[in-house]
Amino acid sequence: MPLHAGKQPEPRPRHRAGNIVATAANPDFGRELTLPVAALGPDPVPAAVAYQLIHDELLLDGNAALNLATFVTTWMEPQAGVLMAECADKNMIDKDEYPLTAEIERRCVAILADLWHAPDAMETVGCSTTGSSEAGMLAGLALKRRWAKSSMGGKPNLVMGGNVQVCWEKFCNYWEVEPRLVPMAGDRFHLSAQEAVARCDENTIGVVAVLGSTFDGSYEPVAEIAKALDDLQQNRGWDIPIHVDGASGGMIAPFLDPDLVWDFRLPRVASINTSGHKYGLVYPGVGWVLWREKHLLPEDLVFNVNYLGGSMPTFALNFSRPGAEVIAQYYMFLRLGREGFRAVQQASRDVATYLSGKIADTGEFQLVSRGDELPVFAFTTAPDVTAYNVFDVSRALRERGWLVPAYTFPKNRTDLAVLRIVVRNGFSHDMADLLLADLARALPELRKQPKPVHGTADESFHH
Ligand SMILES: Cc1ncc(COP(=O)(O)O)c(C=O)c1O
Repeated sequence: MPLHAGKQPEPRPRHRAGNIVATAANPDFGRELTLPVAALGPDPVPAAVAYQLIHDELLLDGNAALNLATFVTTWMEPQAGVLMAECADKNMIDKDEYPLTAEIERRCVAILADLWHAPDAMETVGCSTTGSSEAGMLAGLALKRRWAKSSMGGKPNLVMGGNVQVCWEKFCNYWEVEPRLVPMAGDRFHLSAQEAVARCDENTIGVVAVLGSTFDGSYEPVAEIAKALDDLQQNRGWDIPIHVDGASGGMIAPFLDPDLVWDFRLPRVASINTSGHKYGLVYPGVGWVLWREKHLLPEDLVFNVNYLGGSMPTFALNFSRPGAEVIAQYYMFLRLGREGFRAVQQASRDVATYLSGKIADTGEFQLVSRGDELPVFAFTTAPDVTAYNVFDVSRALRERGWLVPAYTFPKNRTDLAVLRIVVRNGFSHDMADLLLADLARALPELRKQPKPVHGTADESFHH
């Protein structure tokens, strides 16, 4: 059974005739056609017809630009799209055959190393991945392998907040590491230094600090966690590294919060990942992972591929992968430069704080975060709102095409249900005003409800 079986439509009988009406504009549709839903059709279909039929079915997908649930880039300049199409046939792993693509990946790693203040940007090791999940797996594997080399036995554990993205729970599950999740408590929605060190011991392979949290966009206090781990080393002798999950924040903080010390400026930060396809402003899927110094990535995990007389370390879960996204990342680096990135990310933060302010001004909602760290904020209904809940609001906005997820927080705060808005490049002040107008239009209807209609069963996917 395919993993996504639950989401598939009921299979149609294989030979049911399609109900496609002939039009003068497109006589191809005059023929009876079925779209294959469970097995290949018997005959080929003309390319134009195949294109049109699939294109038309996809109209039922949500509109990516109105998808305020996703962190992933939904708009790039047409030139980036052209470049990506030109590179769609290049396999990233063929470093011998595509040495320039490999060189461009190397340049991207060096650029990120510089942005994240690595001690020696040109010497920093790192690689592209399909996203932050794969990047996290690789970073986690490096932590585990380093721990294993000095371990006296025992089961490895990884300390992190209960707000981590699911990729960290996957890592622990797949590679048999005990997840030590610090639950949320009261208004603390992410990891604190004190709670992190309290769960460390001699088998802790690392602490994951998130910049910023998937649940509410807040930054975890990386420098405080590093200081607490310094003290722990002093007192107990355990040298526990930090991995920063900068899936989103790794491409926000360098431009908007240059004085925030969260990166390789902290010697305890061993590795950092980011998603190129989030605030790296590239279509999915590209991620990055870097280690502050060569020795932090154990040699025995790396396979060396020679190209153009040099040596390219490859460390990846997959073998083949398109080169297009890496090229698109380089396009964005070249195109925007530091100032361009700063301006784009600032615009997103401005829209996020504007929108959160206006939503708070309605008096019907309370903000959990403001969008002033990641341009992402979460909000819930005010205590005196009893006629509707966040799930009802999510449904009402969906009727107008907006995809705003509603979900409950994890352990210890499952009582808190929120809506979350992710502001990305391309979501303008005008769009924010249109969303506010639709919210204002929906509220009088929602207020008339005797009680909330929808519940957690309507929860949307929120990663
Ligand atoms: C903090 C964090 N880490 C990791 C991930 C996984 O990223 P990707 O979708 O690039 O695999 C996400 C995705 O939202 C995230 O927010």
